[in-house]
Amino acid sequence: MRQLTFLNKSTRVFAMSKQVILVTGASAGIGRVCANSLHQSGWTVIGASRRGTSSGGWSGLAMDVDDDASVKDGVAKVLTEQGRIDAVLANAGFGIAGAAEQTSIAEAKAQFETNFWGAIRIVSEVLPHFRKQGGGRLLLTSSIGGLLGIPYQAFYSASKFAIEGYAESLAYEVEPFNIHVTLIEPGNFKTDFTANRRMVEVTGDDPYRAARQKAVSMMERDEINGASPLLVARVVEKVLNAKRPPRRVSVGKLDERAGIMGKRLLPFRLYEKAAKGSLGV
Ligand SMILES: NC(=O)c1ccc[n+]([C@@H]2O[C@H](COP(=O)([O-])OP(=O)(O)OC[C@H]3O[C@@H](n4cnc5c(N)ncnc54)[C@H](OP(=O)(O)O)[C@@H]3O)[C@@H](O)[C@H]2O)c1
Repeated sequence: MRQLTFLNKSTRVFAMSKQVILVTGASAGIGRVCANSLHQSGWTVIGASRRGTSSGGWSGLAMDVDDDASVKDGVAKVLTEQGRIDAVLANAGFGIAGAAEQTSIAEAKAQFETNFWGAIRIVSEVLPHFRKQGGGRLLLTSSIGGLLGIPYQAFYSASKFAIEGYAESLAYEVEPFNIHVTLIEPGNFKTDFTANRRMVEVTGDDPYRAARQKAVSMMERDEINGASPLLVARVVEKVLNAKRPPRRVSVGKLDERAGIMGKRLLPFRLYEKAAKGSLGV
């Protein structure tokens, strides 16, 4: 996507300049594939992660979304080097699995620190710039787990439900500034997410053991057999190019999207009964 930039008032010279997107969580998985694909489509891509690596012709940036100063410095660096940011894909995240009862507050807080507060840090840092510039696009990676509560991933689901509520509210506030917010809601995708999942530490009695192992191995199997992140990249590009971007886009296999629809349409107890089989409980 390209835009016309006003260069010189008196001579009215215009030049084509590339749009700039900041993608977090770009060293692996969904973020990496989105960064590669946006770069190929002509965007100037800055891909942030703790590793700061780049897998294509785009620029890698070392940034830890858990850290206020790291995000502040990272966004300032992009603005200094590129002069603008037109869009953000706040995508950095990880999962934690375990019984809700056995999850410590510290483990649960770490989940929120990255998945929820990490996205908020980026958004808060770019919003003043978007307003001054006259607009921008915010894409936040939520999850099917942000729409449906997933057993043995209670705090992962909670962090994504939180992003859903935040983004829904924010959209009203920033639309008058020509800033558009879209939640990207992936189902199961084959990425490093499965290997990077943290497991809740269990000490002593473990009444959840058998049920947890069954549910976790089922979710791991679904992820390993999950769709290609290229599907997400296509959706992200579509949202970025849309004149009137959607507020939410679910992306994934048909049965996953049917689950989302089922929760919307069915009486909750009926949906819950039907969902149990696919959630491994
Ligand atoms: N895969 C799925 O099935 C699935 C489904 C629904 C939603 N999602 C969501 O999609 C997003 C991307 O996940 P993925 O599947 O691509 O997982 P992934 O392959 O494990 O990639 C996660 C990315 O996030 C980065 N990251 C993690 N913690 C970070 C931090 N504190 N600061 C900066 N970057 C950080 C990682 O880079 P570094 O380690 O280098 O920092 C990596 O680039 C997540 O928000 C996840 O919840 C995934």
